[in-house]
Amino acid sequence: MQSSVSSVSLTSTLVPFQGGIALQCSQFRVPKAGPFLFLMGGLDSDCSVLFIASSFRKCSKKECQTLVTAQLELKPPPYSLNALEPHMSRETFEYHWGKHHRAYVDNLNRQIVGTELDGMGLEDIVVATYNKGDTLPPFNNAAQVWNHDFFWESMKPGGGGKPSGELLELIERDFGSFEEFVKEFKTAAATQFGSGWAWLCYKANVLDVGNAVNPFPSEKDKKLVVLKSPNAVNPLVWDYSALLTIDVWEHSYYLDYQNRRPDYISIFMEKLVSWDAVSSRLEKAKARALEREQEAEQRRREEEEATSGDGEDMEMYVDSETEDSEAE
Ligand SMILES: [Fe+2]
Repeated sequence: MQSSVSSVSLTSTLVPFQGGIALQCSQFRVPKAGPFLFLMGGLDSDCSVLFIASSFRKCSKKECQTLVTAQLELKPPPYSLNALEPHMSRETFEYHWGKHHRAYVDNLNRQIVGTELDGMGLEDIVVATYNKGDTLPPFNNAAQVWNHDFFWESMKPGGGGKPSGELLELIERDFGSFEEFVKEFKTAAATQFGSGWAWLCYKANVLDVGNAVNPFPSEKDKKLVVLKSPNAVNPLVWDYSALLTIDVWEHSYYLDYQNRRPDYISIFMEKLVSWDAVSSRLEKAKARALEREQEAEQRRREEEEATSGDGEDMEMYVDSETEDSEAE
């Protein structure tokens, strides 16, 4: 029996119906039934069976782990685990990256394996599972993986200080001064109730984000903005370009600062921020915005040409009809 077992995964909210023996599975084992095995079933986010049609048995925990085939990987921070000491300890990193971040990756792989999300890029998974505010089960893990990758790269040994060049110019333009920006960022991070994140973003467009409440009105386009988000939510869901973030979940600072979140935030700004990374992200954000503007302009021209073409056709038709009418 064991030798004829194939693995199948079903996630009802994403892929309510799948078929074929090539399906991957982290949750169930099922006897092979030939080349056209079709199954229906569902799981909730913690692997419990919601419904399943056929004679499945749930995997043991060990089997579930060994059968996972989705391949999103835990990215290491761009520095060693003790590189940010004494401001962020190795012990914090061992828990934060080594356990919390790893768990988000592992859980996400289990949730998406065998679904249409498997093989998509992480950003696309985040946006797809945010589902315009009506979130799907993998969203929290997907967003937390993205957020933590982004957070590690927002810091560097010997960071902090003040940015320069165009980044500083835009900060001064949009916040009045660097000091005012720091004050606003710190306030956002300190006042995020419970777990969440604070962000500096470049907002360059207003796209269709459905029922996701857009935190800023359209007149803020092409500007830097500071915002905070609860739990795993991040600026991808508003189509903003994130430039900088700080994790204000307690697991990010409790070992080093206990309940003193404001102290952690101050040290982050003064000693850890990688302004090089923020500047590099700003360049990419502006290039992305320019590319989108050019694409929008191209679409507008094509629509104009199409409309113009429609008018000519209509005129020719009318003329022809008129001639016929006169001929009668
Ligand atoms: Fe975290």
